[in-house]
Amino acid sequence: MEKFVPLSIPNFEGNEEKYVLDAVKQGWVSTGGAYITQLEEKMAEFLHVPMAVACQSGTAALHLALMECNVQPGDSVIVPTVTFIAAVNPVRYQFANPIFMDCDDGLCMDALKLEKFCEQECELKEDGLHWKKDDSRIKAMIVVHVFGNLANMEKIVEIAEKYKIKVIEDATEALGSKFVSGKYQGKYAGTIGDYGAYSFNGNKIITTGGGGALVARDTEHAKHAKYISTQAKDDVHYYIHNEVGFNYRMTNLQAALGVAQMEELPEFIMRKQRNYAQYQTLLKNSGMGYLMPFREGTESNQWFYAYVLNRNIVKAELREIITALEKRGVQTRAIWGLIHEQRPYVSCAAYEMEKAKYYSERVINLPCSTNLTSEDIEYVVNTLEDVLHSFAGV
Ligand SMILES: Cc1ncc(COP(=O)(O)O)c(C=O)c1O
Repeated sequence: MEKFVPLSIPNFEGNEEKYVLDAVKQGWVSTGGAYITQLEEKMAEFLHVPMAVACQSGTAALHLALMECNVQPGDSVIVPTVTFIAAVNPVRYQFANPIFMDCDDGLCMDALKLEKFCEQECELKEDGLHWKKDDSRIKAMIVVHVFGNLANMEKIVEIAEKYKIKVIEDATEALGSKFVSGKYQGKYAGTIGDYGAYSFNGNKIITTGGGGALVARDTEHAKHAKYISTQAKDDVHYYIHNEVGFNYRMTNLQAALGVAQMEELPEFIMRKQRNYAQYQTLLKNSGMGYLMPFREGTESNQWFYAYVLNRNIVKAELREIITALEKRGVQTRAIWGLIHEQRPYVSCAAYEMEKAKYYSERVINLPCSTNLTSEDIEYVVNTLEDVLHSFAGV
């Protein structure tokens, strides 16, 4: 194979090696150390929030948020079906039940269906919202900003306030995405609802290998989340613990990588946007599909690019298309298998699913690494068009 363009790989062009080596030389490699504090400060400064809590993963951050929302066994939590499964699993860690929502045309939770669900299927009682079907309390919802595209937060927060539901923003894919108009102008993904979770997994816009962060509207909750993420130590010398804690703290080694990556975040966002623009220009007249736009009134980090196939022309299965592209050196992928159809969740409620299915049969993600060259993008587009033409019989 003469060329290979991967889907999404990390980029270490800055101080990564220097800081990680420094952490090793200092001997601070575990869950204490100055790089952790530095990363938290850099995150808080970037997001314009008072504090951020560095965690082992985005999944851990989401679990901490659910615990801070006091989600208990038997409660219900509204979640999207179009997401990576890690956005939903923490609901089960709390022995609570997910209720699945459909997506809108930007792949994020459909706010209008959410409103209809709350209005018609639930009852607002003295102690909060109850699902009529089993009278369970709906204490929270998890809203994913899919591929860096911001969800319809104005509408979602309005619904959440009306129905007294906490909003956990899964901003794991959306670090740096922000609103540039409307009620939340200037606000970043993760800082609008009650909690925001970020991920620094290897394919994210910045990475610490594995890692995440949590922010909270109420600083007391952020402090408490930090406390339970570090084994709930009340006395570090005499090992006194007044709550059940978790080993969810990020390590200094990971944070050293993160501090270097944070220095490059603005450049990475710029490159993601530049590459997206090039794709858009090249794919404008393709006729085989279109590149999904990001929400109006926002400036997205444009983390992942979603190409939506025109099914009137391209009838082949996604699997066939992805395999054909792979053979030609272009790595792509389908969006996730819908979560309400996955084995652990098939018996859960799924509300008026429609668009999720539609997009899951049409979307493929194109290579989007920050070190893509202009030639790489041309190669991807030419190969994509070739492969799609071959399937369309054109
Ligand atoms: C939407 C979504 N939620 C949650 C996660 C979990 O993050 P992590 O892998 O850091 O646990 C990811 C990514 O991995 C994600 O894409």
